Amino acid sequence: MIDQRTMAPQTMTAAAGAADILGHVQSVSGSQATVGLLDSAMSGPNRAGITVGRFLKIQTSKSQLVGVITEVSMQSSPLQNYCAMARVDLMGEIVEAGANSTFRRGVAGYPTIGDTALPLTNKALRIIFDETDTSAVSIGSLQQDSTVDARVDVDEMLNKHFAVLGSTGVGKSTGVAHILSQTMKVRPKLRIFLLDAHNEYHRSFGTHADVMNPANLRLPFWLFNFEEIVDVFFAGRPGLQEETDILAELIPIAKANYNQYRNTTDRPGIKRPEAKNIGYTVDTPVPYRLADLLAIIDDRMGKLENRSSRMIYQRLITRIETVSNDPRYAFMFERANVGGDTMAESISQLFRLQPNGKTMTIMQLAGFPSEVVEPVVSVLTRLAYDFGLWSDGAVPLLFVCEEAHKYASADRTAGFAPTRRALARIAKEGRKHGVYLGLVTQRPAELDPTIISQCGTLFAMRMSNDRDQALLRSAVADHGADLFDFVPSLGTREAIAFGAGVPLPTRLTFPELAAHAIPKSASYATNAGIAGENIEGDFISAVIDRWRKATMSQHGTQDEQPSFAPAAAPSAHADAPSLQPHQPAAAPQASTPIDATRLSLLKKPISAPLDNPLLRR
Ligand SMILES: Nc1ncnc2c1ncn2[C@@H]1O[C@H](COP(=O)(O)OP(=O)(O)OP(=O)(O)O)[C@@H](O)[C@H]1O
Ligand SMILES: [Mg+2]
Repeated sequence: MIDQRTMAPQTMTAAAGAADILGHVQSVSGSQATVGLLDSAMSGPNRAGITVGRFLKIQTSKSQLVGVITEVSMQSSPLQNYCAMARVDLMGEIVEAGANSTFRRGVAGYPTIGDTALPLTNKALRIIFDETDTSAVSIGSLQQDSTVDARVDVDEMLNKHFAVLGSTGVGKSTGVAHILSQTMKVRPKLRIFLLDAHNEYHRSFGTHADVMNPANLRLPFWLFNFEEIVDVFFAGRPGLQEETDILAELIPIAKANYNQYRNTTDRPGIKRPEAKNIGYTVDTPVPYRLADLLAIIDDRMGKLENRSSRMIYQRLITRIETVSNDPRYAFMFERANVGGDTMAESISQLFRLQPNGKTMTIMQLAGFPSEVVEPVVSVLTRLAYDFGLWSDGAVPLLFVCEEAHKYASADRTAGFAPTRRALARIAKEGRKHGVYLGLVTQRPAELDPTIISQCGTLFAMRMSNDRDQALLRSAVADHGADLFDFVPSLGTREAIAFGAGVPLPTRLTFPELAAHAIPKSASYATNAGIAGENIEGDFISAVIDRWRKATMSQHGTQDEQPSFAPAAAPSAHADAPSLQPHQPAAAPQASTPIDATRLSLLKKPISAPLDNPLLRR
């Protein structure tokens, strides 16, 4: 009987260089091979490369197969000088075509028993990773050989969406900042919309990004669809059925009313077109005036005899007025009673349709009233998708969502369902309309699995939670899943990249970024600066003011508000509201500019300090 284990190595040795041989194939099963490792290799210069996560090459008679070591164990074999065994996942092959060699994924021909295993040289790594393709960008260096760039194919990464996953503090945001900067270099026309949950990216992209926050965002309330505006009016609580029924019926009428009279200065009272003739649904994104809506509700109320029914209308009017007069909601209600179809302006500003050198929008979410963040994210996500849909993807847009598990929770009962649906829609169908998704999360197991399963490229950073690791394993194809065993032991800045964007599942290190490019919230910087010094009384009172306001009910009736509430919300509802349009003066109070430096102190904007002498000391 011919012993292949002894025959084949000898024939291969001449070509490969005996000193480099790591061992020989002992068994093959599916896309996995077991390699017997030679004594000489384990004690030679290549020893350091024989460990899990490293690539090696198996020389077959036709090509060079590239695989990654997923397991190494001590096992001696009396037949050869093997002292250990390595399990290798076969990932692709280097094909020689004349003078040029190219790498291709997948394995066309499998190894046979006795084929030689060799270290993957620097030259071979460059064949795999040094793509000259114009869509390939370097995002770091290979852990196996730091002289070789780890490249991703930007088009593949965008087309099939991507996600960056890892525990807190491992460098996700910094990695994302780097990936986005590199992407901008090769795709200068791509628009990027970044939901910045902690206001930390504003310095990372220099002049390429427009930073938006509640102080400069204008997102008219009528762009919110029905579920979103109900969520705003009811402060995140489920809307009361009898009140939402009224809104569902009367909002389309207010829209029709506005449309009918928008071009005339003469507004002859409130007309109420027959609902069936309106043509608008409650979700149609056309303008209407809040004053008209209130007047129509009031008009309906006036016709009711039953006192308890009147109370329902009255409560709804109060609710709408309280929210729309709240200065914190100025970004959506500032021109609520003025009218004007500003949708084109809003879309153009949000998605940088006229970029003027800035193709990116950083939407800082930390300054919004906490109860309104979810509907705002929902509107923005929906607008991003709908603009792509109705423009036939004319302007490719990458939509990046930090803390994605908060907006698209795996728990269907948690969070705001329309936000999850909007993100899921981009994940499932966005690529057809030029809308791509980038997700960042520290809790992948808490992220809706249908969304994460649509992400074709994953950057897995250090993660210690078992559930998160299990989810990762299920999210990637069989081959390469073993690499996830390294995930708990990765260092800061290190990631394992999988999927469509990378030629091979790759362990890589993001470069060390300059201090100004590292995402950091301004509060961190400020607090670091003042730590240990005397904290001024004004600062403390401003903090307490913001703290209290953040937990005050802004949405209930006036008498729910604490006695120290600022007199921002006039109690216009104490008497029956007038049929006259509301004066726009109430909402624009909110346009008091919010000082950007105050935003930096904590995550909610500070408005005027409380007039409380005790706090002023
Ligand atoms: N590529 C890098 N270059 C330089 N410093 C880095 C890099 N990556 C991470 N760091 C350091 O690690 C810190 C945490 O990084 P980062 O904020 O990106 O982590 P994160 O995973 O986004 O954390 P969180 O879950 O809290 O958002 C940074 O403030 C920085 O000091
Ligand atoms: Mg982060």
